[in-house]
Amino acid sequence: MSKKPTGFIDFLQFFKVLPARSLFLRKAPDGPIETLYGVNELAKRLHPEKQCLKVAAVTDHGDAKSFTLVPDPARGTNHCAFFRAGQYLSVELSIDGALVSKPYSICSGPADALAGSYTITVKRTADGFASDYILDHWDVGTEVTVAAPEGQFYYSPVRDAKTILGLAGGSGITPFHSIASGIVSGDVDADLILLYGSRSADSILLKDAFDALEAKSDRIKVVHVLSDDPDAEGYEHGFLSAELIEKYEPDQDYSVFLCGPAAMYAFVDKELEKLDLRTNRVRHELFGEAYHPEKLPNYPQDCVGKTYKVEVLIRGESKTIDCPADMTLLRAMEFAGIAAPSRCRAGECGFCHSRLVSGTVYVVPKGDGRRIGDLDYGWIHPCSAFPTSGVVLEVFPKAVS
Ligand SMILES: Cc1cc2nc3c(=O)[nH]c(=O)nc-3n(C[C@H](O)[C@H](O)[C@H](O)COP(=O)(O)OP(=O)(O)OC[C@H]3O[C@@H](n4cnc5c(N)ncnc54)[C@H](O)[C@@H]3O)c2cc1C
Ligand code: FES
Repeated sequence: MSKKPTGFIDFLQFFKVLPARSLFLRKAPDGPIETLYGVNELAKRLHPEKQCLKVAAVTDHGDAKSFTLVPDPARGTNHCAFFRAGQYLSVELSIDGALVSKPYSICSGPADALAGSYTITVKRTADGFASDYILDHWDVGTEVTVAAPEGQFYYSPVRDAKTILGLAGGSGITPFHSIASGIVSGDVDADLILLYGSRSADSILLKDAFDALEAKSDRIKVVHVLSDDPDAEGYEHGFLSAELIEKYEPDQDYSVFLCGPAAMYAFVDKELEKLDLRTNRVRHELFGEAYHPEKLPNYPQDCVGKTYKVEVLIRGESKTIDCPADMTLLRAMEFAGIAAPSRCRAGECGFCHSRLVSGTVYVVPKGDGRRIGDLDYGWIHPCSAFPTSGVVLEVFPKAVS
C-alpha cells in the first residue's frame, strides 16, 4: 500500500468546499447567520457596530480629565471590544442639534478592556467644541456611545523594531499610556523609550500614572522635556530634537512613533531627517482635522470668505445646507444635524467616503487617503474636503450613524 508523504495536501478537497457549504446552509435553522459560525460571533465581539457604555469614574487633571467607560448592559453592551494598544475610540455626541463623532485614543491597556473598561483622557482645546462639551457635561453615570476601536498606531512585531521610540506632545501622550500599560500586562512585547514634551512641570499629563508604570517594568523609560520651564530640575529642556533622541537611544535600532499637535509634527519631522532613518521606521498618529485651508498648498485663494450651498443626498432625502469655504463638508453636515458617518476625521480611514455628484472641492494634501480608483469615480472624504463651489454630495450612512 502506498503511503502519502508527510505534509501532503490534497488539493482535490477544495472542490468539495462549495457543495459542503451549500449543504450546511440548506440544513441550517432559520435565524441570524452570525450564530452559525463561531468566527462570526468573534468578529462581532471584536468589531461591534457600536458600543453603549457609561462613565464609571472621572479623574480631574486640571485642563484635562480621564473618563473610565464601562459597558452598559441596559442598552445592550455587555463587554468592551478588545483593541491594540494605541488605537482610538470614535465617540458620538449630540451637541445643541449638531451630530458629531470625535476620535479619542484609548489611554488604558488592552487588559483593562478584557476586564471590562476603557479609559480616555480628554484635554481642553482653546475654543474647542466636542472636547469642551465632554469636559463640562460628562460625569459618573453619563451614557456614552462609541464605535469599535480603530486605528493603525499600534506596535506590530512584523513591522516595527523591538524598541519603540515614542515622541509625544500635549494630549498625544494618551496612546503611549496604553502602549506602556500593554507592556506591563504582557500584551505588547516591546521596549518603550518615551520623550514627552510639555510646557512646564505643572502641565505634564498623566505623570504619576507613567511613574507607576515605569516602576513596574524596566522595559519602559519616560523622559520629560519642558519647553517653557528652564528652572525646573530633573527634566530635559527645549524641544524634541535629534540631539535628544541620540542622547537616549544612540544606536538607532528603533521604530519612531509620533503623536501630538500638527505644529510638533512639522518640527520633529525636520529633526528626524537629521537622523536619516528608514521611512518605514517612522510612524505618525493621524494629523486630525484640518482648519484654515487658505494656509495650505495650492488652495484657490479666490474662495476665501465665500459660503457655498451644499445639497446633501442621504437616506433617500435631499437637504440643502450652507458651508463656509473654510469649513470641511463633514463639519458643515454635522452642524446642520445630519448624521454623516465619520471616524478618524483625518481623511485616512475612508469611513466617511461620499460621492461628489457635482461641484468642486479642495482636498487637504496631507489628508487624502483615497485610492486612485476613488478619484476616477468621484469619491471624496468629506472630513478632509472643503467646498470651492456649490456642491451636490451623496452620503452613505453606516448602520451605526
Ligand atoms: C486619532 C486621534 C486621537 C485623538 N486622541 C485624543 C485624546 O486622546 N485626547 C484629546 O483630548 N484629543 C484627542 N484627539 C483630538 C480630538 O479628536 C479633537 O480633535 C480635539 O479634542 C478637538 O476637538 P473639538 O471638537 O473640541 O475642537 P474643534 O471644534 O475641532 O476645534 C479645535 C481648534 O480648532 C479651531 N477651529 C475650529 N473650527 C475652525 C475653523 N473652521 N477655522 C479655524 N479654526 C477652527 C478651534 O477654535 C479650536 O482651537 C485625537 C485626534 C485623533 C485624530
Ligand atoms: S472619517 Fe476617516 S476618512 Fe473621513
